Parts: sequence; C-alpha cells; structure tokens
Amino acid sequence: MLKSDLTDNITKRVSVIEDVLKKYLPKTEGYQQIIFEAMEYSLMAGGKRLRPMIMEEVYRLYGGSNNNLIEPFMAAIEMIHTYSLVHDDLPAMDNDEYRRGRKTTHVVYGEDMGILTGDALLNYAYETATKSFEEEVDIIKAAKAMKILTEKAGIHGMVGGQVVDVKMNGKVPDADMLDFIYRLKTGALLEASFMIGGVLAGASESDVSTLKQIAQYIGVAFQIQDDILDVTSTTEVLGKPVGSDEKNEKSTYVSFNGLDNATKAVKSYTNEAVALLEELDLIKGPDFLRDLLVSLTDRIK
Ligand code: IPE
Ligand code: IPE
Ligand code: MG
Ligand code: MG
Ligand code: MG
Repeated sequence: MLKSDLTDNITKRVSVIEDVLKKYLPKTEGYQQIIFEAMEYSLMAGGKRLRPMIMEEVYRLYGGSNNNLIEPFMAAIEMIHTYSLVHDDLPAMDNDEYRRGRKTTHVVYGEDMGILTGDALLNYAYETATKSFEEEVDIIKAAKAMKILTEKAGIHGMVGGQVVDVKMNGKVPDADMLDFIYRLKTGALLEASFMIGGVLAGASESDVSTLKQIAQYIGVAFQIQDDILDVTSTTEVLGKPVGSDEKNEKSTYVSFNGLDNATKAVKSYTNEAVALLEELDLIKGPDFLRDLLVSLTDRIK
C-alpha cells in the first residue's frame, strides 16, 4: 500500500473508532458530572487509537462481523489505555503536564480528579466490555475475551510493568528486567488487543498464542520507539513532553544501547512480528495490518 493510502486508511479508521468511543461514553449528568467531563477530556483528546484498530482488524481478518461483540471491547481497551496514561502522568509517577496535545487531566481537573478519572475509566471499561455479554450466542467468546482483558490490564500485565518501571527510577535494571518492564507495561495491552480480536472471531488456540507472540514483539518495539521519540522529538509533534525519561532518571533501551541500536532493535522486533504474522496464513497479498505494524517503526508520534 502507498504510504499516503495507508495514512488515509488509518485516518478513516480513527474516525470510526472515535464514533464507537463516543457511543459508549456515559452521559454527563448527576452530581458527579465532573467525572464524565474529565473522562471525555482524556479519552477524546486524540490518541493514535492503535489498540482498538489492531483489535478490530484481527477480528475482521478471522471473519468476525458482529459489531455488537467487538465494539464494547474496542472501547474498553482504549479506556484502559487512557486510564494508564492519566495515572502515568500523575505527579507521583512520571509527573508530566502534557498528553495528546493538551494539558494532562490532573493539571486541568486537579490531582484528586486525575486519580478518580483513571479509576473511572478502568471501571467503566469493564462495564462497557460486559455489554458484549448481551450477544448470547457468543457469550463464551465474550467471557474468554473478558478474562484476557482483565489479566493483561492487571498485576501480571500493564500494572505489573508500571510497578517495576517506577520502582527502577534512579536505578539501573539489567537487560532482562528492562525486557520484563516493556513486555508488561506496554506489551500487555497490545497482547490483549491482538488476542481479543482473535478470540472473539473464534481463532484457534494455536493462532491466539501466535497472536500473543506477535503482540509481544510489537509491544517491545513500540516502547523502544517511544523511548527514542522521548529523546529525539519535540513536544509540539509528540503532544507530550520530551525528556521525561531523563527527568525521572529512567533507564531505557536508548540510554542502555544508544539511539542507533535502538532504531535497529525496533526494526528487528517488528520483522520478527511480521514474519510470524505471515506464517499464520491469515493475510494474502497486500495487507493493512502488516503495513500498519511496519509503519510504526518510523512513526514520529
Ligand atoms: C503511549 O501510548 C504510552 C506507551 C505505551 C508507550 P501511545 O503512543 O499509543 O499513546 P496514544 O494513545 O497515541 O496517545
Ligand atoms: C508508559 O510508558 C506506558 C504505560 C503503561 C502508560 P511511558 O511513561 O514511557 O509512556 P509515555 O511516554 O508517558 O506516553
Ligand atoms: Mg511511565
Ligand atoms: Mg510517562
Ligand atoms: Mg515514554
């Protein structure tokens, strides 16, 4: 696919995903209405929507066609991802004031509401995902997907990775530990995206396990690229502060291995992922998912 066609395709999909997000957001009403505003502020700020995009594409590649089954999970994964960012930016964590081109949620709504907005997005994500249970013929698939979502978001997934990440500030992890952090804090929600897309469409166990492995490679590559951009980009382009890792005395793949090796690693992990994807016999000829994954290697935001 031509680069401009890919960009157009992505733009269209982002707009479809944002309609899904709006559809599932709660109504702004009641004494607690500030929380609805803050949820919308953080969620609708314009991220790349990579996780729901991957989830939906994997679902379609496996022949899935029930929007009422996949959409609650697409909304849920983006809500969980957004909550992870709102909390990641809190003063007690990375202490960053910009996100997705806007002031961070806690800067606008206060630290108390920053914490509660994260809590709200996480809980509402699960409420939203259970809407898929209304699809009675697919309820077993929905339950399996729910299990994956909860595990990958939690202490053996994203939260577990964030724990080690913040605990290592000012310290130097070894290569194994760094890999652990990246696989969990960033890889886990990508694993959930790939796996849930497959599970909801009825992919075989062996395919779901390959999807998980693909996601792990993509997750590590994605976080290394994030670390590269933290050094090489600008706040204007990124929509979030650069130099955050240095400020927090955080060892990253870049501080360990240098920019050149980091760039090479992004490409080689992505190649591994693409090779596995091709082995799945899922894609024939030109393919959006492959092009999307490859395009992440030179993303600038
Ligand atoms: C940022 O994720 C946090 C990491 C896991 C590196 P994204 O780069 O996907 O952020 P958005 O969703 O586009 O804002
Ligand atoms: C965070 O990694 C990944 C999350 C689970 C939120 P970073 O702390 O590097 O993410 P950014 O750079 O703030 O988006
Ligand atoms: Mg962080
Ligand atoms: Mg951060
Ligand atoms: Mg970062």
